[in-house]
Amino acid sequence: YVIGIDLGTSAVKAILVDQSGEVVAEVSHPYPLIQKSAGYSEQNPEEWVKQTAKALAELVSIFTGDSSDIEGISYSGQMHGLVLLNENFQVLRPAILWNDTRTSQQCERITEEFGEEILAISKNLVLEGFTLPKILWVQEHEPDLFKQAAVFLLPKDYVRYWMTGMIHSEYSDAAGTLLLDVVNKEWNSEILRKFSIPETICPPLVESHALVGTVRPEVASELGLSVQTKVFAGGADNACGAIGAGILSSKDTLCSIGTSGVILSYESDKETDYQGNVHFFNHGKVNSFYSMGVTLSAGQSLTWFKNTFAQNETFEQMIDAIYDVPVGSEGLLFTPYLFGERTPHPDSLIRGSFIGISGSHRQEHFVRAVLEGITFSLNETIQLFRQAGKNVDTIISIGGGAKSDSWLQIQADIFNAKVIKLKSEQGPGLGAAMLAAYGVGWFSSLEECAKKFIQYSSEFHPHKDRVEKYQQLFEIYQMVYSKTKEINH
Ligand code: XUL
Repeated sequence: YVIGIDLGTSAVKAILVDQSGEVVAEVSHPYPLIQKSAGYSEQNPEEWVKQTAKALAELVSIFTGDSSDIEGISYSGQMHGLVLLNENFQVLRPAILWNDTRTSQQCERITEEFGEEILAISKNLVLEGFTLPKILWVQEHEPDLFKQAAVFLLPKDYVRYWMTGMIHSEYSDAAGTLLLDVVNKEWNSEILRKFSIPETICPPLVESHALVGTVRPEVASELGLSVQTKVFAGGADNACGAIGAGILSSKDTLCSIGTSGVILSYESDKETDYQGNVHFFNHGKVNSFYSMGVTLSAGQSLTWFKNTFAQNETFEQMIDAIYDVPVGSEGLLFTPYLFGERTPHPDSLIRGSFIGISGSHRQEHFVRAVLEGITFSLNETIQLFRQAGKNVDTIISIGGGAKSDSWLQIQADIFNAKVIKLKSEQGPGLGAAMLAAYGVGWFSSLEECAKKFIQYSSEFHPHKDRVEKYQQLFEIYQMVYSKTKEINH
């Protein structure tokens, strides 16, 4: 058996997986966000440890086999969050998370002082969510505390440190810091020097499937695990989500709709250059990469609609009712910019809209328009990929967006691509378990592991008439951003 731990933003989920890829047990524990003022989003790293320990102890107690049969553990984690430790590896302050937006000034400073060069090194735009602006914020606002910082870690790397006693990071998460030379896979001394960040605070880097240690005796006895269980580095949640959906070669594209939505594509060529229009990060598979566009409020838009207008209905009831609403929601158009947008508009001030409301529109028109608007937003990333010469004809769809056949058909028609749903879907936790399964040597490659662990369930094909209709509407959708920007800014 192996364990995959997914350290998310709202909860930690641990799954126990056997050699055939079947998930035999699953435990999840939530933890709160600390939002001290507008734009602030923090979590206590000790709380991650506490809830992970609880989840693992429960997982082991459900397990009927011998604890020494659990051969490996690996991690997936929420990206970008800053954990600062002192020289005794004690946590100095709450972690500043990926969805914390206090760092606009630091982003401006980085762009002014480093200009285009940071894009060339990190392959990514300077955004509030990334780690470097958070380090600069602490340096500026909490200088005494920053002086004590001996090492910084990303969220899952801290929980793994608790488990093994070893300090490491790995390339897929390091890629989201703006401090990594993504192509050459090393911390960039020039950027560190420029911002007076001591190089020693950067943890040593390893590959995602690298063995980084075993379970510390105290942790093993507390949780009922064996001290022989091997611990592997793991990866960023988007990298692990991609591995868990089998996105391991250039023909593969992923659509993942959760709170936010992601279109992600495997990249084998490190020289591929999207000029920052999409993120470009190291993958969890050695020497490979992925590009990714993000819709900030994807599932969140639907949840917002339900909570505001249809509290007494389930998501299923709401979506079932759109069956009779034609493509295009009879002239009603939605843009999902409830909390700003990332791709293709890195804009935290833009807000959403319903356009074209008529007296004949009913709730089901609004629901369909919300689903279409979210999917149009994701299609903007697909358009960027196609403009860059990528062939996007097959898309694996996971997350909340893959729970409804109606939405999967809308995806096929708007993306103008075949959309595939997986049989059983475990998200990033399965990707983490696959890294452990590969790490312990069950498989000769992640691809071999994917053949065994991942199965397709059904396919949705684009329909010519609907594709054409959506292409016309997509052009109108794309105009809405610039037209509403003036009003929102
Ligand atoms: C990626 C990002 C989010 C977090 C969420 O750039 O900010 O997807 O990884 O966990």
